[in-house]
Amino acid sequence: MDQRRPLIAGNWKMYKTQSEATETAKQLIRYVGAVTDIDMMIAPTFIALTAVFAAIKNSPVALGAQNLYWEDEGAYTGEISAPMLKSAGCQYCIIGHSERRQYFGETDETVNKKIKAAIKAGLQPVFCVGETEKEREAGQTLSILDKQIKKGLEGLVSEQLDPLIIAYEPVWAIGTGKTATDDQAQEVHRFIRSLVKNNFGQALSDSIRILYGGSVKPDNIASLMAMPDIDGALVGGASLSAESFSQIIKFKR
Ligand code: 13P
Repeated sequence: MDQRRPLIAGNWKMYKTQSEATETAKQLIRYVGAVTDIDMMIAPTFIALTAVFAAIKNSPVALGAQNLYWEDEGAYTGEISAPMLKSAGCQYCIIGHSERRQYFGETDETVNKKIKAAIKAGLQPVFCVGETEKEREAGQTLSILDKQIKKGLEGLVSEQLDPLIIAYEPVWAIGTGKTATDDQAQEVHRFIRSLVKNNFGQALSDSIRILYGGSVKPDNIASLMAMPDIDGALVGGASLSAESFSQIIKFKR
């Protein structure tokens, strides 16, 4: 739908020192500093947030974090809260990435608490969902997504969900070079939009942005973005180089 402004987001995962991240951010601005027709975001590691924010704050590229803890403050050694991220310049926060679910014990319940904390602090959650290869082969893709989305958004009402962004990242397509086909991705995106409609109403389902993630590259972005329910991309590996990420941002439209 025309009213949805595309968002291309880069998840830098646990890559780049502070100085490498700042350098890449500066290069990126040189490539895309004049882009005005889509939203752009980069999510470096926590420790690089402040330095990267200083490099991008007067540009159209926004800052995102990769995780948060749901309490505002307290004796939670090693954790970082939503208000802290907001004060460091973040506009977005990725929540529930499959790597966090897989390696760090993230569950639908903790994802739900984190989404609530992000919204309360004025951050836009980029809420990640997606099935594993085993689940897809067992024909469980849609039921897994239904559960992740219902539980992840439990207790929230549509009036609170304007800032929400959903990212569909099939686990089998992350970092593997295996992208979902345009039609496979579109089918799931359409299903996710219908879930949002059934649970939160037509207006939110029309306006919510649903990103695709999983081996997005300069040569597959245009056909993914041509799908009616794909509103952007969450890019891992190909966002680490300013050159390839800028090619993705500047896909032919
Ligand atoms: P890749 O683009 O490296 O497959 O990673 C996708 C991803 O996990 C983005 O969050």
